[in-house]
Amino acid sequence: MIEGSGINTNSSGRFYIRTFGCQMNKNDSLLMQQLLADAGFEPTADPDSADIHIVNTCTVRQHAANRALSYIAGLKRWHDRGGRVLCVTGCLAQAEADEISRRMAHVDLILGTDAYQNIGDHIKEIIAKKVRLVDTRVSNETYCGIYHPAAGVADFVAIMRGCSNYCSYCIVPNVRGPARSRPYEDIRGEITYLIERGVKDITLLGQNVNEYRHNDLDFAGLLERVAKIPGTCRIRFLTSHPKDFSIKTVQVIEDYCNICEWCHLPLQSGSNRILSLMNRRYTKEQYLDLVRNIRDRIPQATVTTDVIAGFPTETDEEFLETIALLEQLRFDDAYMYRYSPRPGTKASELTPLAEEMIKERLSALIAVQTGIVKEKTHEMLGKEYEVLFESAAKQNGSRGKTRGNKDVVVRGHIEPGTIKNVVIKEIKGHTPIAEPVD
Ligand code: SAM
Ligand code: SF4
Ligand code: F3S
Repeated sequence: MIEGSGINTNSSGRFYIRTFGCQMNKNDSLLMQQLLADAGFEPTADPDSADIHIVNTCTVRQHAANRALSYIAGLKRWHDRGGRVLCVTGCLAQAEADEISRRMAHVDLILGTDAYQNIGDHIKEIIAKKVRLVDTRVSNETYCGIYHPAAGVADFVAIMRGCSNYCSYCIVPNVRGPARSRPYEDIRGEITYLIERGVKDITLLGQNVNEYRHNDLDFAGLLERVAKIPGTCRIRFLTSHPKDFSIKTVQVIEDYCNICEWCHLPLQSGSNRILSLMNRRYTKEQYLDLVRNIRDRIPQATVTTDVIAGFPTETDEEFLETIALLEQLRFDDAYMYRYSPRPGTKASELTPLAEEMIKERLSALIAVQTGIVKEKTHEMLGKEYEVLFESAAKQNGSRGKTRGNKDVVVRGHIEPGTIKNVVIKEIKGHTPIAEPVD
């Protein structure tokens, strides 16, 4: 415990959560929302009128850490108006609790990724005792039994937490601890709870879902059980690791029509030497075999990926191997990042490439992949897709997602939660514009 905050005990307890980072952090924010509601606090969508501001942070790349830090710094004036609690949670809080606490005196509460259970009690203690708190305990927390509020017609259910893979560039295992799987009964409980609240599309979430194991249940077995839960319209999963994606999983996707044919399979690099330095534990040949297998057995499957540009020691030739693989595999989409050294990771001991070179390589990757996405989007013209409508789009349109996770817009209002077959009539920018099939 550290001393010194001036919190007004008349705080009316309205909280606002700002989330940075990946789906796991978004899921954790909903988890905290539920925990805070259970503790008697009230959510607000207006940060200015909030008494409690929670900043759920990310530190996967330096840029993400900087964005969160400057957002927190910008809350000083809000906090200085008095009677307010500022709470920093998530991966950056776990990684840099001491630093944040020392440099930012307006932060009242710092909570690490396994320490959300007591968020309500911590805030009450801060308000009552005018103290500052830091809780970055490391535990086997899986937040069992806490079902988050439904976030729309498409939602996430965490099936595991943490990661034990230690890819050499990645800070996630350091800030989220080792992989832990959630028991099936708890996963089923949350899925059923969300279905009863109108959720139609559920993404099973984990840093490497293919490593899920609880007692004798592996990921393919879990996927099959989830597919049989009454009322599950659509099921997806995120993220897969190519080294663990089993043929049994491909078979389950093929067997159950409510499992969407979309695989997010981060490639990271097309060079075997770089993949080995990254500790990814597959070769490009194994990756190619896996994608071939998925596409042979499920021809309509979409495959998306993540790629890192400019990993330390990557040569021009090795970078060109990545470009060649993008051209060969023609991913439906790709998230591309410039390499960012992270403290405490193995790769951060290697000398980084020049910033300019990393930037150029990222631009080259983006140029190639943008062309491929454009071609693939145009290939959708005239074809029929099943779309789940999720929200309103500009100009009275409606936005939805295909089973392959592609955004589609239809003119006119369609109630969120409706599933309709549509035909793609035109492409505007990168967005397919469709008409419903009668
Ligand atoms: N668990 C997933 C996986 O295995 O790919 C996602 C992990 S991470 C949250 C999402 C992506 O960020 C990774 O796939 C990787 O491409 C990228 N990434 C992670 N660490 C990075 C780093 N230090 N620099 C650049 N990109 C990074
Ligand atoms: Fe990071 Fe690798 Fe784990 Fe993904 S699998 S979270 S990239 S260590
Ligand atoms: Fe996600 Fe960022 Fe943490 S990507 S796991 S919020 S470091």
